[in-house]
Amino acid sequence: MTQPLIIANWKMNPPDSKEAFDLASEIKKGIEGLEVEVVLCPPFVYIPQLLPAKTLLIGAQDCSWEQEGPFTGEISPQMLKNLGCTHVILGHSERRQLGETLEMVNKKAKAALAVGLLPVVCIGEEIEKEMNIVSRDIKNLILAYEPSWAISTSGGRAVSPEDMGNVAALMKRFIPSDTPILYGGSVDSNNVKSFLGPDLAQGVLVGAASLNAKEFIQLVKIAAMQ
Ligand code: PGA
Repeated sequence: MTQPLIIANWKMNPPDSKEAFDLASEIKKGIEGLEVEVVLCPPFVYIPQLLPAKTLLIGAQDCSWEQEGPFTGEISPQMLKNLGCTHVILGHSERRQLGETLEMVNKKAKAALAVGLLPVVCIGEEIEKEMNIVSRDIKNLILAYEPSWAISTSGGRAVSPEDMGNVAALMKRFIPSDTPILYGGSVDSNNVKSFLGPDLAQGVLVGAASLNAKEFIQLVKIAAMQ
């Protein structure tokens, strides 16, 4: 297996920029030299202070499908790319609950790819329907299987490795065979190992556990041994 991809989704945390900086610094130090690709996705406002980042990559949690213009409150893929971001999470179930549609996710993914930003597209329950729409006309996606019920803050429990394998097989019917597939939902240092493998996930999308430096470093270390 190629190096596992670990994406930290900080969501709307932490509340203060010093805390964000300290958390990123501790993580950076802790993962140095490991054979793994780690992408931190902090809230937009912390991105400039976390870049340039040496041992890890920085991504965003959303972007517009437009590159510039009269779109109040939006952040464009071009802006993120210009800052030095490499990835952008799209279609997270917490955004879908606020009204984001699959068509919007597809447009955002195309806009991200147009400027060389890698879209990490979250897929939840209706895999076939979601895959048909979000991956339309797109080749270079990273996919994350993350059913909303598995997310830790919704009282979730992680899916079983067997389910992950079945979903990965289903997703591969729609995408080129080398498309990375990630798993997200209640991933921690105790269970991360069980999701990784050539027929399972090639990486993980981590929420709550990525806000605790020690726990996250431990998780990355275990993933690096796969
Ligand atoms: P969790 O969140 O790891 O806290 O379950 C994952 C996510 O929502 O991306």
